[in-house]
Amino acid sequence: MSKKGATEIYQPGKEFSKKARISSMAQYRRLWRESIDQPEKFWAREASELSWKQPWKEVLDWKAPDAKWFVGGKLNVCENCVDRHAFGERRNKAAIIFEGEPGDRRTITYSQLHREVCQFANVLLARGVKAKDRVLIYMPMIPEAVIAMLACARIGAVHSVVFGGFSAESISDRLADSGAAHIVTADGGWRRGKIVPLKENVDEAIAKNKAIQSVIVFRRTGQEIAMKKGRDHWWHELAATASAKHEAKAFDSEHPLFILYTSGSTGKPKGILHTSGGYLTGTYTTCKYIFDMRDDDVYWCTADVGWITGHSYIAYGPLAMGVTQVIYEGAPNQPDFGRFWQMIEEHRVSIFYTAPTAIRAFIKAGDNFVEKHDLSSLRLLGSVGEPINPEAWRWYHRKIGGGRCPIVDTWWQTETGAIMISPLPGATPTEPGTATLPFFGIDAAVLDDYGKEVKANEQGRLVIRKPWPSMTRTIYGDKARFKKTYWSDYPGIYTAGDSARRDKDGNFWIIGRLDDVLNVSGHRLGTAEVESALVSHKAVAEAAVVGRPDDLKGQAVVAFVTLKKGFDPSPALQSELRNHVGKVIGAIAKPDDLHFAPALPKTRSGKIIRRLLKELVTTGTVTGNITTLEDFSVIEQLQNSIKGG
Ligand code: WTA
Repeated sequence: MSKKGATEIYQPGKEFSKKARISSMAQYRRLWRESIDQPEKFWAREASELSWKQPWKEVLDWKAPDAKWFVGGKLNVCENCVDRHAFGERRNKAAIIFEGEPGDRRTITYSQLHREVCQFANVLLARGVKAKDRVLIYMPMIPEAVIAMLACARIGAVHSVVFGGFSAESISDRLADSGAAHIVTADGGWRRGKIVPLKENVDEAIAKNKAIQSVIVFRRTGQEIAMKKGRDHWWHELAATASAKHEAKAFDSEHPLFILYTSGSTGKPKGILHTSGGYLTGTYTTCKYIFDMRDDDVYWCTADVGWITGHSYIAYGPLAMGVTQVIYEGAPNQPDFGRFWQMIEEHRVSIFYTAPTAIRAFIKAGDNFVEKHDLSSLRLLGSVGEPINPEAWRWYHRKIGGGRCPIVDTWWQTETGAIMISPLPGATPTEPGTATLPFFGIDAAVLDDYGKEVKANEQGRLVIRKPWPSMTRTIYGDKARFKKTYWSDYPGIYTAGDSARRDKDGNFWIIGRLDDVLNVSGHRLGTAEVESALVSHKAVAEAAVVGRPDDLKGQAVVAFVTLKKGFDPSPALQSELRNHVGKVIGAIAKPDDLHFAPALPKTRSGKIIRRLLKELVTTGTVTGNITTLEDFSVIEQLQNSIKGG
């Protein structure tokens, strides 16, 4: 680490750089320049590392906002992720090292993965699933979730994975929107020592749905479940009679690969549609340069397949790279907060990709869970999902990475399909809190309301000015919403919906969702900035900040804070924290109200649900939809703490 003025710069280690694909900033800049000046040349070179059954005629056909990549090219995405390795040198290499929450383990080689995927592809075909049919997948984090996705891709069916933490209602909404007639699920999954009743939720979701042709159920937990004759089938029974041979057919590069629902500014989730050739090229290329994946790596991404990270950086990118990866079913604190570190030690994980919220939970739990384990196999760390506060960054770097592993703070979205802004681990100097620089081919910028690039350190809208292969092609069934949401701010330019600023070195600092930006006395304030300030205080484990209508200021800042072990709520600490924020950002950011909370309301993927906090601070109660909430009792506790002042 070196101090440059008041900032804190971490240079990539010499050993790491020497072996990395991109080992200097000069090399990054040269290649980035080429990729922006001649994007078609850059992406064609990357795409040609994949296996195509028919070469493309044209790299890009762009009529904003409609992009077609590798036009006329044909490939099979599944074949690229499985067959390419199963019939080559990686045949007996572990593709997936699985650990269930109860401790059961399985290793699946590429050759075995091929068998399983082919078999399940044949199961789907026998159920009558055809190319472009939608298949809803609602599974625990077990290899079969990935196998089901790959099998869909293999036969050209379009999967729509619904996160296992979602309710029956969310399943039925997604079924209605996607028009899926087939569901792949499990009897249940393990989470915090309990069974998540997946099949039961499916039953509830489709009780009145006559369109469902089949429900295929993998036996995971083994408890009694209802099976409806003619509609419901056990995975193992169908697979027992299915052939393990299946020849992958070629599909058009723009053939739809999946729909993944994500929240927007309205209550109705958006069905983000991704297609084949471009998406695979984007996820493959980012795995190669950003995670710098090698044949001897053991990679572990802790995301769930229900989110885009689980699609791009578990199912598709890493398998296209032929890497060995760990898949874990359960909670990070089962049986205790040492679980991840124990798994890293045992499986000799070398690349670890997780979310800041998890890191903060570990900080809160205490260092002794980490210190018991040998984490020397790690060589690279990643972060995704939200801005990582510098305090968590430093802890991750020091405690998990032993001070030697570069951290790639990766900014991207469900819509972008692949990582857009991130350090390259062997080249980019990093600084806690910035995702640094755009990836190859990514023309990211920060614009003002008139479409002009803002000056250094000024805040604006984060946009991507040129098309890229893994970009979403539409919102399923709602082209108008697609155009309005992403393409209406500036002609021909993608708006991410995030606010950001660039420093004088060009690094991007993501401030947060534009809808989470407060306006306090005419000043714009990122809730994430206030949170980061709070979390940088030694007593704070986690913080969430929302706006509350205020007659005088427009909006007042309300903070919810959870404390680390060994700190207790007190009026003195309350004012200390307010002053601390004042010190870090300025008096304007000082929270008007600061509530100590035992926990914050979160989705199962770990995102704080600010919508609920906003409602709580505005009305004193929560009446809105709380179905995505991980722990319902949190709301009650918060209501009480608000009443108690
Ligand atoms: C936020 C997750 C700061 C951002 C891959 C974005 C981040 C939204 C980062 C997308 C990061 C994601 N730094 N913010 N490294 N990564 N975000 O669709 O607000 O679940 O717009 O995709 O998460 O969330 P999504």
